[in-house]
Amino acid sequence: MKHFLDIHTTAKPELRGMVDSALSMKAARNGRPKGTPDDDQPLAGHMVALIFEKPSTRTRVSFDVGVRQMGGQTMVLSGKEMQLGHGETIADTARVLSRYVDLIMIRTFEEATLHEMAEYATVPVINGLTNRTHPCQIMADIMTYEEKRGPITGKKVVWAGDGNNVCASFIHAAAQFGFDFTFTGPQTLDPEAEWQGLARNAGIGFSIERDPLKAVEGADLVVTDTWVSMHDPESAKERRHNQLRPYQVNEALMERANPDALFMHCLPAHRNDEATSAVMDGPHSVIFDEAENRLHAQKAVMRWCLGV
Ligand code: CP
Repeated sequence: MKHFLDIHTTAKPELRGMVDSALSMKAARNGRPKGTPDDDQPLAGHMVALIFEKPSTRTRVSFDVGVRQMGGQTMVLSGKEMQLGHGETIADTARVLSRYVDLIMIRTFEEATLHEMAEYATVPVINGLTNRTHPCQIMADIMTYEEKRGPITGKKVVWAGDGNNVCASFIHAAAQFGFDFTFTGPQTLDPEAEWQGLARNAGIGFSIERDPLKAVEGADLVVTDTWVSMHDPESAKERRHNQLRPYQVNEALMERANPDALFMHCLPAHRNDEATSAVMDGPHSVIFDEAENRLHAQKAVMRWCLGV
């Protein structure tokens, strides 16, 4: 069973293959209308369940469109409207869904929910985000970097802001694809100790630098994310904004990075909080290519899971 649960638990050659496959599939579509099917139809006859326990724009639409382009069908399910939200166990839900569908993508809160789904499902399960990680996003980010600048191996990536679930998957990717990773943000929002340990044991350059201007020196890619994640309490908002304001990605910060550095944000963004509009819409930014590449990267992930 080839579940796609996290980047650090997926073998390096498999990850490399998925990024290469995503780049090839994007090139093969060659600007054709989005609703037209791919020439090959690898998901023909396949049904995919897309379960959302949290809101989504990009993940929901890109998975749905991706399945359809590959000839499959989807059903989008809200966790609240399923028995999942009314006491049926994850294990039972996984067993039942496996009788109907060929692949399950789930966006959920607790990582344990994802793992229970994968343990009891008899079809592949894909992590569409948990409170701890967001691997599909980072597969798209690696694809985007390589599409624009070539191999990411050996490059320097700087994450500015909250060491959240998206940051965690970027650290996993640093270990697997072999690039250096610097986190700059307040100590209270550092990436989890487990992920720091994973990076330090991976033989890559991993550092934490409290001074954002120093952190971005020599950066090939600067990344940030919203200051308050979907699972963070609203009450944390004001404190987080105060803590994170010095780590805003603005033009002054980007000027300290390498001249050809890219800027990424997984979106949705709070413009002029974590990043200024001048940066988001500026010459370094690839945020909309990054969003598009969710589609291509996830198509590659689904094909890998299904072996088609
Ligand atoms: N980046 C991302 O996962 O976007 P959505 O929350 O809109 O799916």
